[in-house]
Amino acid sequence: MELLSARALTSTLRFTADLAKSVGDRIAKNAVRQIRVSFKGEVDLVTQFDKQAQDLIVNAMTEEYPEYGVLSEENVSTGKGRPVRWIVDPLDGTTNFAHGLPIWAISIALEVEKAVVLGVVYDPTRKEIFTAIINRGARLNGRRIYVSTTRKIGHSLLVTGFPYDIRRTKNNNLRQFGAFAVRARAVRRLGSAALDLCYTACGRFDGYWELKLSPWDQAAGSLILREAGGRVTDFAGRKFSIYGDEVLGTNGLIHGQMMSVLKRRRG
Ligand code: IPD
Ligand code: CA
Ligand code: CA
Repeated sequence: MELLSARALTSTLRFTADLAKSVGDRIAKNAVRQIRVSFKGEVDLVTQFDKQAQDLIVNAMTEEYPEYGVLSEENVSTGKGRPVRWIVDPLDGTTNFAHGLPIWAISIALEVEKAVVLGVVYDPTRKEIFTAIINRGARLNGRRIYVSTTRKIGHSLLVTGFPYDIRRTKNNNLRQFGAFAVRARAVRRLGSAALDLCYTACGRFDGYWELKLSPWDQAAGSLILREAGGRVTDFAGRKFSIYGDEVLGTNGLIHGQMMSVLKRRRG
């Protein structure tokens, strides 16, 4: 972590936020043209815009910070073993994007010796940029944000997502979804893990859980949520890893109640 000073992190955050905004706005503008969809799996889509966003982001990063590695969803993994690495989801919410549903974002995080120290999530539709630097709080369009104060799961609005192997496995979150649907005030499925985490960070949701995400889905959002005062763990309350299989992110107050529901609905 000492590899980067506080001042270096501040200027890197500015660079990252400017980059996410310029690429996000460009993609949003271009997306009025025909979106070409191809398939990575049965229900896992990718469009030409995922790749275009990734090229723009990765080129700018490697030009400005040639010494950092990059891990980005569409098959980019460079600088293995380097202590500082970008983790990029060039377009989170591709299924929404491909259908013209305006709920998608660009997510960029910086990892130093396996710890995420900086995160940016940009939603071009709403012009909302969520940012965080480790130990320095989380922000939405520059203003500090905090998690909700909801104490009871029965009063909570929750959000989740389903894995791309939903058709092929029983470990597909449907049982947990059913259990929460009758305990919470309501449960939503927005289709962008990065925004789910950020919306929990700013109190729009009280809690979020999901299975089988990738590091790029959750690296920036999990830091933003933690820096907004939230708690992020696995389903059993153990230390969260962006490389792990489970994420439970809440306002902290309903964390235990959500853990009990998840415990009874495993597998
Ligand atoms: C997906 C979204 C979705 C989540 C999926 C992710 P993508 O990312 O974050 O909300 O449920 O598991 O893979 O494919 O749109 O970048
Ligand atoms: Ca994603
Ligand atoms: Ca993606």
